[in-house]
Amino acid sequence: MNLVIGVGLRTGTPYAELQDLATTALHELAGEVRLVVTITGKENEPALQQLAAQLGAELRTFSNEELAEQPVPTPSAQVEQLKGTPSVAEAAVLATGAQLLIPKRQTPNATIAIGVQRAAGYDVRDRAVVQRVIAERRDVRRGFLDLPVDDATLGRVLEAAHRAPSVGLSQPWDFLVIRDLATRRKVHDLATAQRDAFAASLPEDRRAAFDGLKIAAILDTPLNLAVTCDPGRGGRHVLGRHADPRTTMFSAAIAIQNLWLAARAEGLGVGWVSFFEPGEVAAVLDLPAHVELVGYLCVGYVDEFAAAPELVRSGWAKRRPLSWAIHHEEWGRRDTSIVDDARQAAQNAVPATGQRVHVIVGGDASQLQQSDALVVDLRADRPPADFGVLWRPARTPAEAVEFGVEIARDLALQGVGHLAVQLDENSERAESLARGLQVGASACGLTHSTT
Ligand SMILES: Cc1cc2nc3c(=O)[nH]c(=O)nc-3n(C[C@H](O)[C@H](O)[C@H](O)COP(=O)(O)O)c2cc1C
Repeated sequence: MNLVIGVGLRTGTPYAELQDLATTALHELAGEVRLVVTITGKENEPALQQLAAQLGAELRTFSNEELAEQPVPTPSAQVEQLKGTPSVAEAAVLATGAQLLIPKRQTPNATIAIGVQRAAGYDVRDRAVVQRVIAERRDVRRGFLDLPVDDATLGRVLEAAHRAPSVGLSQPWDFLVIRDLATRRKVHDLATAQRDAFAASLPEDRRAAFDGLKIAAILDTPLNLAVTCDPGRGGRHVLGRHADPRTTMFSAAIAIQNLWLAARAEGLGVGWVSFFEPGEVAAVLDLPAHVELVGYLCVGYVDEFAAAPELVRSGWAKRRPLSWAIHHEEWGRRDTSIVDDARQAAQNAVPATGQRVHVIVGGDASQLQQSDALVVDLRADRPPADFGVLWRPARTPAEAVEFGVEIARDLALQGVGHLAVQLDENSERAESLARGLQVGASACGLTHSTT
C-alpha cells in the first residue's frame, strides 16, 4: 500500500512530538509512506522535513484554496479562521487523490491524517462518455443504410472485441466476416423458418404483437459477423476453466459486447440474431465441427439510434428496475422488500392490458399442452429444461411469497395482462407462492383469478 500522511503543525513543533504521532498511527497500517503533504508555507518546518527524510517520502504542499475544496470528515472552524481552510491534514491527504484511512489525530502542536493512494480512474468527462456509449448502444434491426463499412473501421471494432477478457486468456473467439449475398440469403432463410416456428408456439394475442416485430436484418446490412467459440482453445490447463467450462462461452459473449460498444461509437448499428439452431448456421458457414456459433450479428450504418430498446418501444417488454436486481449480502435482501414494494405499488397501479397466462402452481411439464400455460415446479429436484416450467424450489413460505411476486412482476414486464392461477399442490409453499402471484399481479395492474 502506498500511504500519504497529511500534516498540520505549529511553527517550531519538536520533531519528537511529530514523529511519535506519526509512528503510532503508522503501526496500525501496513505500507510505505510515499508522500508527506501539508499547507503551502509549512514546507520549511524542520520537523516536517525531518519526517519526510526519515520516511524516504516526497514532501508536497497545497494552497489553502485547494485544501478548502476538499470534503473532509472533521472540519474545524478554528483552523478555518487561522488558515482559510477548515482542514489541513485531512484535506491535504484528499487533495492528493488518496482515500482517507485514518482521520485526523492531534498532539498539542501537530495534526496528522493518513490515506492510501488509489490507481486513477477517469475524469468526469471521460466517465460520462463510457456511460453514454453503454446507454446508447442499441440492438438495431431497421433503418440500415446502403453504405459500405470500410476495413479500417471494421478493424477498430474487431480490435475492441479481441481485447475482451477471457478465461485463462484463452481468447476462444473467432470472427467470420460475411459479405457474400448468397451466404446471407441461406442464413436469412434459416432465421425465417425459426421465426415462423416461434410465432406458431405463441398464444394468439401474443402472436399478433410478434407479427409486427422485426427480428433480423441479415439482408439489410452489408456486413454480417459470425462470432464463434472454440471451447478447447488453450489446451488442457486453461486457468479458471477447469471448474466451470461455461466460462469459455462467457468469454466469447463478452467479446461481442465489446464489439457492440465499439461499433456504437463508430456509428455502426449491430443486431444480434439468435433465431437459429446453431448447428444449421454452422453447416451453412461450413464451420469446423469443434467450433461453436455464439452470436450472429448484422452490422451497418444506420439513419439513427433509438433512445430505447425496440422491444420497449413496441410494448413487447419493459426494463426491469435495477433495485429488483440488487441483493445485499443474502438473496432476497433488497433495498426495499419486494413484497412490501409490491403492496405499496398496488395502490397506484395502472391497469395493464395484455395476454392471459395460465400459471399452474405445483404442476409439471405434462400440463403444457396449451400455449398460454406456465408451470411453477416447487419440487426439490431440478426438472428437465423446458421454458414452460419455472423451477422455484422455495425454501420457506416467505421465500415462496417472494418468488410469486417476482414471477408476476416478471411476466408483467413481458406484456402479460391477466394471471389465471391454478393451485395443483396442497402445501403451505404452494399457497404462499400463489399469494405472492396475487400481490405481484396487483402491483402491476394485472387482473388475477385463482382456481
Ligand atoms: C444473446 C442475445 C440474443 C439476441 N437475439 C435477438 C434476435 O434473435 N433477434 C432480435 O431482434 N434481437 C435479438 N437480441 C437483441 C435483444 O432483443 C435486445 O438486446 C434487447 O431487447 C435490449 O435492447 P437493446 O440491445 O437495444 O438495449 C438479442 C440479444 C442478445 C444479448
